[in-house]
Amino acid sequence: MTLNLTPDELLATTRAVRRRLDLSRPVEREVLEECLRLAQQAPTSSFAQNWHFVVVTDPGTRAALGELWRVVARSYVQRRAAAAAADARLARMSDNVHYLADHIHEVPVHVIPCVEGRTDGKPAAAQASRWASIIPAAWSFMLAARARGLGSVWTTFHLRHEREAAELLGIPYERVMQAALIPVAYSIGTEFRAGPRRPLDTMVHWDRWA
Ligand SMILES: Cc1cc2nc3c(=O)[nH]c(=O)nc-3n(C[C@H](O)[C@H](O)[C@H](O)COP(=O)(O)O)c2cc1C
Repeated sequence: MTLNLTPDELLATTRAVRRRLDLSRPVEREVLEECLRLAQQAPTSSFAQNWHFVVVTDPGTRAALGELWRVVARSYVQRRAAAAAADARLARMSDNVHYLADHIHEVPVHVIPCVEGRTDGKPAAAQASRWASIIPAAWSFMLAARARGLGSVWTTFHLRHEREAAELLGIPYERVMQAALIPVAYSIGTEFRAGPRRPLDTMVHWDRWA
């Protein structure tokens, strides 16, 4: 079942969901497969389709991944403490990260988008085309999930321990890069508002940068 969202509403309200993930409701495999099939329609360089999604539902594996995620999340929150004290929005985000760190292992699905071919140390152009072969697909997955009442959040904390995560998941680290760990669950309520963003003219340059 999909929510009744227009394309614009979907694009404007697919938020980072951390606190409003329903930890007690399982997510059906068929629903995840629908989202993944839509993700497959994203662009890929030269028809390569060199992407993979590792979908983790096993509780033991989620617990082990959660350990890796939590350590980095907690240090992030600590490092941000002073800045968060002076900025209410940052403080709210830190609280939410802290909350998710406590519950990451309970989130019913962890999705890890991966791409074949490591680009460590390669020029920016090589990096850009490799990452752009997975990130649009992963974002399509998140949009499709939102359209079905699921919440998710793009996270990169566990990448500090990418090799350990690869070992845990049987990912061949030497030839496959992980792009993110996306916790996925039904959202608690389906109403989300557009996020605050900088004025458009501070980010858009017509014809020239200046
Ligand atoms: C490259 C990237 C890395 C991110 N890493 C994390 C992360 O490790 N942990 C986390 O909780 N959120 C992470 N986020 C989510 C952002 O914090 C989130 O998109 C931001 O708070 C804006 O949220 P909003 O779109 O709902 O306003 C990441 C987002 C991006 C794009």
